[in-house]
Amino acid sequence: MDAGSRIEQTLDLALAAAHRQHCPPLLAQAMRHAVFPGGARIRPRLTLAVAAACGDSQPATANAAAAAIEFLHCASLVHDDLPCFDDAAIRRGKASVHKAFGEPLAILAGDALIVLAFETLAEAGALQPQRLAALIRVVGAAVGSRGGIVAGQAWESESEVDCSLYHQAKTGALFAGATMAGAAAAGVAHQAWRSLGEKLGEAFQIADDIRDVAATPDELGKPCGQDAAHLRPNLALERGLGPAIAQLDSLVLEAIDAIPACPGRVELGTLIGLTARSFLPAGLARRAA
Ligand code: IPE
Ligand code: IPE
Ligand code: MG
Ligand code: MG
Repeated sequence: MDAGSRIEQTLDLALAAAHRQHCPPLLAQAMRHAVFPGGARIRPRLTLAVAAACGDSQPATANAAAAAIEFLHCASLVHDDLPCFDDAAIRRGKASVHKAFGEPLAILAGDALIVLAFETLAEAGALQPQRLAALIRVVGAAVGSRGGIVAGQAWESESEVDCSLYHQAKTGALFAGATMAGAAAAGVAHQAWRSLGEKLGEAFQIADDIRDVAATPDELGKPCGQDAAHLRPNLALERGLGPAIAQLDSLVLEAIDAIPACPGRVELGTLIGLTARSFLPAGLARRAA
C-alpha cells in the first residue's frame, strides 16, 4: 500500500474505533472535520519515509506513529484557530472547527485528538511493547511544554521571545518528532534522526512565512497576512522574499545531508528533495523567482 493510503486508512480506523461507543455525535463529527479531508500530510509522510529508509520492520507500528503525529498536528490547528489564539474562520479551505461546531466542541475535539494520538500508539505498541516507550517519549516531547507545540504557542503570551526558540517549538519540534518516531517505529536508535527533522521543520517554517506574505487565501485554504496582523516574526517580511527562498533552499540541502546512514538513504534524500518543492505553491514559487 502507498504511504498516502496507509495514513488515511490508519487515521480513519482509529477515529472509527474512538467513536464506536459512548462518543457524543457532534464531538465525533467535529473530530472528523478536523482530520478529513487532510492537508498535505507532510509530517506523517515523513514518519513513514524514515521508517521505510530504516527497513520498516513493523509497518503497523510505523502507521500508528504516523497517525499519532497527524492527530497531534490536527489538534494543534483546531486550537490554533480558536478566537483566543489566531481567530481564524477558515482552515484547509473550509470552516475551522469552532466556526462549524462552536468553541466548546472545538476545544474538546482538539483535546480528544491529543488523547487519541497516544491511544493509537498504545494500541500498536501492545504488539511490540519494547518500541512503545521510545515512541511515547519522542511524540510527547514534540508537543509538550519542554520545547514542543504547547511551548511554542505559549511563547506568544510572553513579553520577550527568542524567535528561533519560538519557531523551533511551534513547528520544528513536530517535524523532529516525525522523523524520530519513524526511526523508533522501525526499531532504530532515534536520536540520530533529530537533526533531519529540525532542519526540515525550519525550512517548512520559512516556507510558511513566505506563503503568509506572498500567497493568496485561495492557494492556501486559510487566511494570509496573519504574521503582520498579529505582529509575529516573519523571515520573508524581515529580509524579503528572495533571501527567504534562498535560505529555504539551503536548509533543504542541509536536511538531506543530515540523513543518517541507513539502507534507504539515497531514496529518502530524493523523496525529501521532491517533497520540499511542494512547500511553496507552484504559482508563488514562479511569482517570487
Ligand atoms: C500549518 O501546517 C501549520 C504550521 C505549522 C505552519 P501545514 O501547512 O502542514 O498544514 P496542513 O496539514 O497541510 O493543513
Ligand atoms: C499553527 O501555527 C501551527 C501550530 C503549531 C499550532 P500558525 O498559526 O503559524 O499557522 P497557520 O497559519 O495558522 O497554519
Ligand atoms: Mg498561530
Ligand atoms: Mg494560525
